[in-house]
Amino acid sequence: MNAPDGITDELAGLGDPSGAVRESAAVVAGRPTVLVVDFGAQYAQLIARRVREANVYSEIVPHTITAEQVAARGPAAVIFSGGPKSVHVEGAPAIDPGIYDLGVPILGICYGAQLIAQQLGGRVGGGGAGEYGRTVVERIDGTRSTLLTDDLPAKQTVWMSHFDAVLEVPDGFVATAASEGAPNAVYESPERRIWAVQYHPEVAHTPHGQELITRFLHELAGCDGSWTMGNFIESSVAAIRAQVGDGRAICGLSGGVDSAVAAALVHRAIGSQLTCVFVDTGLMRKHEGDQVVETFRRHQGIELIHVRAGDRFFERLAGVTEPEEKRKAIGELFIRVFEDARGGVEDAAFLVQGTLYPDVIESGTAHASTIKSHHNVGGLPDDLDFELVEPLRLLFKDEVRAVGHELGLPDEIVWRQPFPGPGLGVRIIGEVTPDKVATLQEADAIVREELRIAGLEREIWQAFAVLPDIRTVGVMGDERTYGYPVIIRAVTSEDAMTADWARIPYDVLETMASRIINEVPGVNRVAYDITSKPPGTIEWE
Ligand code: XMP
Repeated sequence: MNAPDGITDELAGLGDPSGAVRESAAVVAGRPTVLVVDFGAQYAQLIARRVREANVYSEIVPHTITAEQVAARGPAAVIFSGGPKSVHVEGAPAIDPGIYDLGVPILGICYGAQLIAQQLGGRVGGGGAGEYGRTVVERIDGTRSTLLTDDLPAKQTVWMSHFDAVLEVPDGFVATAASEGAPNAVYESPERRIWAVQYHPEVAHTPHGQELITRFLHELAGCDGSWTMGNFIESSVAAIRAQVGDGRAICGLSGGVDSAVAAALVHRAIGSQLTCVFVDTGLMRKHEGDQVVETFRRHQGIELIHVRAGDRFFERLAGVTEPEEKRKAIGELFIRVFEDARGGVEDAAFLVQGTLYPDVIESGTAHASTIKSHHNVGGLPDDLDFELVEPLRLLFKDEVRAVGHELGLPDEIVWRQPFPGPGLGVRIIGEVTPDKVATLQEADAIVREELRIAGLEREIWQAFAVLPDIRTVGVMGDERTYGYPVIIRAVTSEDAMTADWARIPYDVLETMASRIINEVPGVNRVAYDITSKPPGTIEWE
């Protein structure tokens, strides 16, 4: 991805701030490995994820890696990510050109494609207006592509985000597809084993993108596609054992799938060295506390300390209305309660967290502004005296579900809809009080129950109720009412980074609405949120 100064690209620059090597998992010898070279794109992890989806193991490496270092790793292929810069600006990231002579198959994406052209003698320039968003790419007549096989349509919709374009391909390369703003949208040299695409095959908005990545990995690079989530578990278990040694770890269970899977994974690695602490913040969904205790203590055999801390949270939240302050307050108190609960496990030096990749980027990096501070990242106090164990940090939600399933967690947990760390605290707008939580719990339980009855639970990413800080006039049984509205929020999504409002059938919405009004005291109106993300976020705050 590249954008000239002044063109706002809301996602540009959400890259790894450190530029350090970030590994998808511990290196496992003998497995075909793909190196994803990060040129500062926010999509580098998404590329790594697509590679995993093609059942190939990948690692993200900085662009400062040398050809010698690449050769030493013996990768099956290298993928160049996009990046926010133009190849022409001073300080634009480049790569050791020796890499092109290693004979390792290379796929360049967006900035990566431009860099290859520039370094191998082609020409990259501005000139046009750039292309942002959905764009049509068409095969160039009379050419045969080894990347875009005949299984793909001759014209396909792809996701573009570029200002510069490759204007002339290097000698020995041939352009095989073009778009209006990118005359060499796909170009390649099968002889040199280098392929380049201007568009982003890794994003969901490029419908045939995964096919392209899989084709590159399996057919052109010869990866056998044998890497699985089972392998991920194996290498994570090894990494967790190496990190924790014979120390003790504690894990906060939130009731959500992320902390549940993190706990189960760490339990697989270190068994009874792990103690889970379930802090009942009083901000959980209806009956959720009992379910967590039942599942983990009884069924999983994990040692569990159950702390009922609702009163402390309500006291801390009294008068707090500003969303970020609320998040920080909940996050901090959570950790304090945790520390208090350490009694039985005083020597625990490690804290397990179910942080996912989208939490990491949304909480901001050196380049990115904070969209909101996620409970399990930005909300941590500075004086935290634990070392963090975050085995899911590089995964997306559906991958976490696959890990949970593989670990044998029950469907009820694995398919639980995502639930934010600060719980109902971020779904109550304005001050959080026990009464409001009780109201929201009832309304939320109805939304989820009706969704389950309608058989829509799995296709919908999240469906929940929100309680805003306003009251409106209504009429019930000939009486004037002055009550709260409840907002129903339901979205479809692949990874929570983008989301669309769910087209729930009207009759299901109607049942939800009439049940909420009839069964939840103090609520006299129900509205349905039809905002996608962006521009909205999934949660209200
Ligand atoms: P937004 O509202 O940012 O949410 O579109 C994206 C996804 O993240 C979940 N979420 C959180 N998860 N801790 C979490 O573990 C948090 O603080 C948090 N805040 C939001 C949200 O439910 C959605 O699935």
